[in-house]
Amino acid sequence: MNRVADKVAIVTGASVGLGAASVRMLASEGAAVVLADIKDKEGQELERAIQLAGAKALYVHHDVASEESWKALIERTVAQFGQIDVLVNNAGVAASAAPEEQTLEQWRWLMSINLDGVFLGTKHAILAMKAHPPSGGGSIINLSSIEGLVGDPQLGAYNASKGGVRLYTKSVALYCAKAGLDIRVNSIHPGYIWTPMVKNYLRSRDGQDMAAKRAEVAAMHPVGRIGDPDDIAFGVLYLASSESKFVTGAELVIDGGYTAQ
Ligand SMILES: NC(=O)c1ccc[n+]([C@@H]2O[C@H](COP(=O)([O-])OP(=O)(O)OC[C@H]3O[C@@H](n4cnc5c(N)ncnc54)[C@H](O)[C@@H]3O)[C@@H](O)[C@H]2O)c1
Repeated sequence: MNRVADKVAIVTGASVGLGAASVRMLASEGAAVVLADIKDKEGQELERAIQLAGAKALYVHHDVASEESWKALIERTVAQFGQIDVLVNNAGVAASAAPEEQTLEQWRWLMSINLDGVFLGTKHAILAMKAHPPSGGGSIINLSSIEGLVGDPQLGAYNASKGGVRLYTKSVALYCAKAGLDIRVNSIHPGYIWTPMVKNYLRSRDGQDMAAKRAEVAAMHPVGRIGDPDDIAFGVLYLASSESKFVTGAELVIDGGYTAQ
């Protein structure tokens, strides 16, 4: 029940999908959670639901691609809760296109969220953790993907961004360890998980109905199914808790065997 008791955790992209599952999980295990997103209605509803369940929650409108927005989010969190123990860089977007058809505008939009967002969050979390050192050490958790480990012919920009997140995570983990900062930095690599992102992606693909598309994607995973958001939230919880105190620069692959083939 109290695997992250008294920790303060910021989760970006917290209103739906993996972010929402992660904040629910962290709050149920004793953390104060800061829900950051641009989807205010869903975020505020989740904030209220978590508060009604007896945990501490704060929703903040926040755009991961904006440095000003990051500064405001961190200031607000420290003002309300005193410190930041955990940052989950979860917000992300996907776009599918053949390389010769992808526009520079779409490439830059995706990078501004998936890569700039992770960089800015990491930078400002480290600054905050240096100024207000968390008692049990800090943990930064970056959502990469199976698409940061293996390629997909239609997901070049997404592959590039998630591969970047994977290696940026290792670089920052090494920096923090060697600088004597008690901050662990790890990446999570989900297979396909049933969230709005995957539903929208499947909807946008030509051909069959949704049930057939879902079955096709499920079959790409050796376990024969698409993952549930909680499959990833359990990984977030582990990396946020001190159970993972010797884990840094690691890749936590949660993909039903997708990349084991
Ligand atoms: N669902 C999957 O199968 C899957 C697999 C591998 C990796 N991931 C990664 O996990 C993370 C979460 O994925 P999801 O499936 O829950 O996505 P989702 O699209 O269902 O939810 C993403 C959330 O991020 C928010 N967001 C988007 N742009 C933002 C911005 N500029 N600033 C702040 N918030 C913003 C959205 O409003 C939304 O609430 C993403 O980084 C994604 O790339 C997902």
